[in-house]
Amino acid sequence: MYKELEGKTAVVTGGSKGIGTAIAKRFGTEHMNVVVNYFSDSKGAEEAVRIIEEAGGKGVAVQANIGEESGVKKLLDQALEFFGSIDVWVNNAGVENRSATHELSLDDWNRIITTNLTGVFLGSKVALQYFTDNERKGNIINMSSVHEQIPWPGFANYAASKGGLKLFTETIAMEYGKRNIRVNNIGPGAINTPINSDKFLDPLQYEETARMVPMHRIGKPEEVAAAAAWLASDESSYVTGITLFVDGGMTLYPAFQDGKG
Ligand code: BGC
Repeated sequence: MYKELEGKTAVVTGGSKGIGTAIAKRFGTEHMNVVVNYFSDSKGAEEAVRIIEEAGGKGVAVQANIGEESGVKKLLDQALEFFGSIDVWVNNAGVENRSATHELSLDDWNRIITTNLTGVFLGSKVALQYFTDNERKGNIINMSSVHEQIPWPGFANYAASKGGLKLFTETIAMEYGKRNIRVNNIGPGAINTPINSDKFLDPLQYEETARMVPMHRIGKPEEVAAAAAWLASDESSYVTGITLFVDGGMTLYPAFQDGKG
């Protein structure tokens, strides 16, 4: 536990499932106040709130479309109304869909870019506005992916959104560093969440993916949440503009693991 996190407030976008819920839970165990944003899964968000409170924190679920300026404004306003201030903003909401690029519809391109990249810009914008207006130290954590670095055939929209996120985060980390606002990415690898749980329920597909990971296993959402807690804490007080990969080594060119090449 990080003592300084107690009583601090965090907004977690896409908090109704997967890595978002795991972060919300971890922040609950840190006795933080957590605003659980969701788009359509109100049940998942209510369950996340219950988990946060069971863990010792306070939670509230807020519906908002983070792909729209009015959505992130609503999220900020509600967070301030419930908890009075904000310390940490986690842009976690993300979506993906598989399609060969020559068949990828413009709608699917826009849908993924809107949530994964524009949503991070909009969330960061209101958080930065709030931190600067109030001269507060601030902390923004963006959920990226190993695919901000590794190309991913069949997911050009997703990889483009995460590649964009890398330079977006580095740029705003540089722009706001002197104001004591830290901005970092987390780059999860293959993690067992609803975005891909079907895939990992099948032992063959599990093994296929595990072979692409030097640690030879799929990660758990809690292992990503631990990175978020560290980045939110003062233990990382001199860390900004990085991507902290939580990937069992997936970014290490595992095709070389048998010494061939
Ligand atoms: C994706 C997962 C995928 C993992 C590794 C993540 O960003 O959301 O579906 O398994 O990258 O390829």
